[in-house]
This record gives sequence, structure tokens and C-alpha cells, in this order.
Amino acid sequence: MSTSLPIFNATSNDATPPPAAPDESRASNHLLDSHGRVIRDLRLSITDRCNYRCIYCMDPDFRYMPKRELLSFDEYITLARICVGLGVEKLRITGGEPTMYSRLNELIDELGQLPIRDLAMTTNGSLLETKPLARWRKAGLHRITLSLDSLDPDKVKAITRTKTSADTVVRAIELAREAGFDPIKVNSVVMKDVNDNELADFADFARTHDIDMRFIEFMPLDSSHAWERSKVITADQIIEAISARHELVPIKGNDPHSTSLNFTFADGAPGRIGIIAPVSRPFCGACSRLRITADGKIRPCLFSHQEWDIRPVLRRGGSDEDIIAFLQDATWTKKKGHGISEAGFTQPSRTMSAIGG
Ligand code: 5AD
Ligand code: SF4
Repeated sequence: MSTSLPIFNATSNDATPPPAAPDESRASNHLLDSHGRVIRDLRLSITDRCNYRCIYCMDPDFRYMPKRELLSFDEYITLARICVGLGVEKLRITGGEPTMYSRLNELIDELGQLPIRDLAMTTNGSLLETKPLARWRKAGLHRITLSLDSLDPDKVKAITRTKTSADTVVRAIELAREAGFDPIKVNSVVMKDVNDNELADFADFARTHDIDMRFIEFMPLDSSHAWERSKVITADQIIEAISARHELVPIKGNDPHSTSLNFTFADGAPGRIGIIAPVSRPFCGACSRLRITADGKIRPCLFSHQEWDIRPVLRRGGSDEDIIAFLQDATWTKKKGHGISEAGFTQPSRTMSAIGG
């Protein structure tokens, strides 16, 4: 059900800083929350612009944030550098569509210099043909995650509201592989009566192209607020649909902070299946993520209603110590869980495109 809410990327202009975290946080040299979790994984959104308008994300008339509100190149680098100094090991560059950011090449050059275990980027893949993938790989980008929600040409067009096709993503997979990216992940948001009849076909796609196919449960982060639980295809349903064609074997020893249930194929075929099930199997207890939006809001969770604006600290020339304290205080406010299944849950006003996946 679509509502007539104003299509506006409502963000709080409230510049109230987060309450001071206790000394144990400040003394730790890490980003700790009040539930005993440590942040190891930073999602940095570098733009809210996108050349797609996916139905589960952005309406066609969605308004972007004014450019002047977005952080500068140097501010992104400063925040990433400081977070890495605070124990972040994984950094994912997200958007909007990050390949629309004009200084992406330089940004990867800079981020690639940080002492980090894993530097990754999520992209819809549509512009990769025009991008220097080998340079990115050499500069230290380890992984690329692409998006593809259907193998049916008409459906791809309808979901993204563009003229793109699955071939674009197939080409992006080839280019990424030639440039040395491995493994290559492809995300697919599964929605009832949209693409849930294609799950086994996607498993074939994973086998043919030797990729990690990742099915994501539809989450309440769409600008039209059309999300309903009845539109979610759960992890169990996804496993059942694929298993009807291919026997799946769970991968043991998964990273405890992994958000996905991961499988290989019993017959030894190439490719893997991952399922990200925040709705039916929340993984909040093991969450080690923090998000920074393109306009400098620290979001402890995808579903946070409270976000903390670090831009004033950056713009008034705050020292590293000021920025560290702010990040630690903001992290301390991270809630125990997203609460999607609790009574009274309300969707955050930001869409995925303005948060970063
Ligand atoms: N639910 C689930 N996944 C979403 N994404 C965007 N919006 C939603 C949503 N409402 C996915 C994109 C991309 C990643 C960044 O997040 O498809 O793969
Ligand atoms: Fe763009 Fe990604 Fe949102 Fe689709 S889901 S509109 S590709 S930001």
C-alpha cells in the first residue's frame, strides 16, 4: 500500500550531539556500544544520487539532499581514517550509487592506503564499463558487490525503472573478474509476487557465472513506505525454493559477524548462495556495523530514528580527539536490535539510498 507521504528525504536538522558515553568507552580506543558490541565494519555512503529508482528504495520523484549538505572528499577520508584508527577492519563504500561520485577514483586511492583488512564497494554495476576497475583493484579495493533483482528483461526494467538489463550486470561481473575481484557478490532483493518465482533460476545464474548470489529480505527502507511483512519472502522460503532444484550445503565456520546464511552446492558446482534475513532471522546481537551517511550523519543502525550529525564538528575544525569522542558517543547509543518485529515499529524516514546498504 503506497501512502501519499511527501517524497522527501527527511533528515533531522537537529545538531544535538550524542550524550557523553561512559569512561570505559572513551578510554577504549575503540567504538563500543552499551550492549558489549565492538564496531569493526563501517559503511560509508559517499553520495545519495543514483541513476536507478528501484521500487524497494526510491520513488521516481524522490528528492536528493542538497549538494552543499554532503560531506567533502577530505571529510570522508578523515572519518574513514579515524574509524580505522578505532578498530574498524572492514570498510564498504556505498551510495546511492557510489560510481556517480565524481572523485571516486581518488577516494579509492586514499582509502586503499588505510591499514584495513577489507575494502569493498556496493554498486548497481550500470556504470562499471566506463570505470578503471583494474586501477581500483590495484589501489586496494578488494571486493565489489553488484545488484540484480531479476533475470527477466522486462522485470529488470520495471524494478529499476530504467532501460537497463541483466546483461549489464553480466558484463560488470566479467569486467570485475578480469580486474581481479574475487569473490564477486550479486545482491538480489526478494519481493513477493515480484521476483520470488526466480530464486532457482538465480541459483543457476550463480553456478553459471561462479558468483556469490545473495538474496536479501525486503526491508522497510523504501521511500514510498510500501513495505509490508506480507511482501517479505523469508530465508526459509528462499532455501526451500532453491532446494527444489539444487541441494544446498551450509558453509560451516561462518564469520560470527556475518549477516548472511551461506551455502555451497552439494554437487560441487561453482557459485555460492547467501541469504540476508534481517526480518525473519535478525542478526543484531552479532552486529559490528556503523553507518555514516553522505551528509555526515552517524547512524548506529539501518533502522535508527536517531542519527548524529558529525558535520558541525568537522566544519568547525574539530581535532581528531573531538571527532573520536563524537564517534564513540554516537556508537554508545546503538540500540540492541532493530525492532522490526516489535509492536510500534516505525520505518525510518531515510531510504536505503540515503543511508547506504
Ligand atoms: N530492502 C532490502 N534491500 C534493499 N536494498 C535497497 N533497498 C532495500 C530494501 N528496501 C539493497 C540494494 C543493494 C543494497 C545496497 O541494498 O538492492 O543491493
Ligand atoms: Fe539506486 Fe541502489 Fe536505491 Fe536501486 S537500491 S535506487 S540502485 S541506491
